[in-house]
Amino acid sequence: MKKFWLSRWTRALLFLLCLIPFLDLIWRFEHNQLTANPIEVITHRTGDWALRFLLITLAITPLRAILNQPQLIRFRRMTGLYAFFYGCLHLTTWAWLDKGLDFSEMWQDVIKRRFITMGMFTLLTMLPLAVTSTAGWIRRLGYRRWQLLHRAIYISALAGVIHYYWGVKSDIRLPVLYGCILALLLAYRFTIAMQWRAQSELSAQARR
Ligand code: HEM
Repeated sequence: MKKFWLSRWTRALLFLLCLIPFLDLIWRFEHNQLTANPIEVITHRTGDWALRFLLITLAITPLRAILNQPQLIRFRRMTGLYAFFYGCLHLTTWAWLDKGLDFSEMWQDVIKRRFITMGMFTLLTMLPLAVTSTAGWIRRLGYRRWQLLHRAIYISALAGVIHYYWGVKSDIRLPVLYGCILALLLAYRFTIAMQWRAQSELSAQARR
């Protein structure tokens, strides 16, 4: 299994898999299959995938421990960057196709509609994570500081769920489901952190 995760082919395959939602949108656009309201479909699909990739990125750490597959960590940067990629497509769809790049209308939306404000906030919190995702930035910041900064992904995911929840008109089932998944991931993280703390306190006591 280790060989499979480390293979360049697996990486390429996963890269292509993550690209499918984007290729699917292009194919549907080319074949006039985006319903009577293509802008709405593109906005919804890109927003959905941005949030899904954020949650997938957060799920990698627990999955590698549960499945005992530490090599899975290799894909965390890729899924995180895909979340940012779909988030940028989502923003571009709204700004360009929906608002026609009318900056004053966009600004009015940002300050008057709380769900748009939250969407902007979500993408802004993802920006430093995408920029500092390279090995060069890990070196520059030092691993501890880099790790601390990248915990902000929980804030991005929470803001993304709130943005979705505030944006839906009636059926809140999906944003609530995403919220529950995020709560589970946070609970897992919290439990592990507590276990680490208890362990290091025990070993400190043993050393005394
Ligand atoms: C950059 C600023 C953003 C703007 C201006 C924005 C705007 C929008 C708009 C106009 C909608 C459609 C709402 C409707 O039709 O009722 C929407 C839906 C959505 N957005 Fe955003 N958004 C932003 C950022 C984000 C980010 C960063 C994420 C995810 C991480 C996200 C996730 C979603 C989701 C999941 C939906 C619902 C899709 C669905 O109903 O299937 N948005 N957003």
